[in-house]
Amino acid sequence: MYTAFNKMCDKVSDAILDAFLAIDQNAKVVCNTVIHQDTILVFGEVVSTAEVNYSEIIQNTIMRIGYQGFDINNFTVEMNQATPGVVQALEQGREEDDIGAEDQGSMFGYATDETEELMPLTLTLSHKLNAQVADLRRNGGLPWARPYSTAMVTVEYRNDNGACLPLRVHTIVISVEHDEQVQLEQFRQDLMEQVIQVVVPSRYLDDSTIYHLQPVRGFSHQRPQDGVGMTGRQIIVDTYGGWGSHGGGAFSGNDYTNIHRSAAYAARWIAKSLVHARLCRRVEVQVAYATGLANPVSINANSFGTSQVSDAELKRIIERNFDLRPGQIVRDLNLRNPIYERTACYGHFGKPEYLWEQPRQLTI
Ligand SMILES: *[C@@H]1O[C@H](CO)[C@@H](O)[C@H](O)[C@H]1NC(C)=O
Ligand SMILES: *[C@@H]1O[C@H](CO)[C@@H](O)[C@H](O)[C@H]1NC(C)=O
Repeated sequence: MYTAFNKMCDKVSDAILDAFLAIDQNAKVVCNTVIHQDTILVFGEVVSTAEVNYSEIIQNTIMRIGYQGFDINNFTVEMNQATPGVVQALEQGREEDDIGAEDQGSMFGYATDETEELMPLTLTLSHKLNAQVADLRRNGGLPWARPYSTAMVTVEYRNDNGACLPLRVHTIVISVEHDEQVQLEQFRQDLMEQVIQVVVPSRYLDDSTIYHLQPVRGFSHQRPQDGVGMTGRQIIVDTYGGWGSHGGGAFSGNDYTNIHRSAAYAARWIAKSLVHARLCRRVEVQVAYATGLANPVSINANSFGTSQVSDAELKRIIERNFDLRPGQIVRDLNLRNPIYERTACYGHFGKPEYLWEQPRQLTI
């Protein structure tokens, strides 16, 4: 039994969220997905004027991932839908800017100058390895590959006065689901030549780099068999791969009013803006909210000693440049748009097309 389908669940949940936002930008959605063998359960709450065809969205999402012929008769959808009146009543009499956080909690953002994306190299390489396997599967470059793959990269670093300087890749682990025909030797050669050597810059690879290239069997190309999955189980690959901290809240299936999602995006935006402005080389930004209050109850920056200015000064720069009320984050980052399904794969951070990856010009 593999817990292989967590990411598929994230994608289904975000595809459903996108379907609502495409029709109704004010839709409030909490959508969870569970997969077990060939049964899919989708459950949650929606407040929206839109009607969506769940079966069609679920089926199309799974086919886009690469599984064919999934049985539409085995979907169960338990989404309670209410009319928008309830929410309007809650928000009545408040300007959008001052709408309070819907929950309490603490969210983190992280950035580091070790890659162009200002993301940790370990995580960036892992995402790129998975993406390369998927691209080659789709264009025929790896004819034996099937949709399930995972990758993990271990990097040796030097501590450069608090910043992280990657020295070399220590170990690469890749597991890929494959068909019956391919031989182990071919499998490993293809992954070395077409995936690892294409994705990982050669300066990081040496004779001592260790490779674990592992074949995975047990799924059917027709449908995700013998596996289980659940939305929100991959919060570390969704964020920074174990670097920095995590507030614990999952992203997928939640609209922007879920502060665990929108404030984590904003915290990444801040962290990236600070590193991009060369105020520090590496930083973790923390924001904390209380239910019903618009402004965060606290903001904290930790630059790991890599800043010319103090962390207290970084905090003042954040306060001067960013309005962290939920109603303002939504506007600054365009979080009402149906942009989420693509976030559910290869991480929510480091993708240049998203506004939280576009550093803000800072007034110092
Ligand atoms: C639904 O899935 C269950 C469990 O995998 C299976 O036994 C059942 O035959 C499926 N139902 C249909 C209608 O395909
Ligand atoms: C939903 O989509 C499915 C699959 O495309 C289709 O068979 C079904 O008729 C649609 N249902 C509605 C209510 O439109």
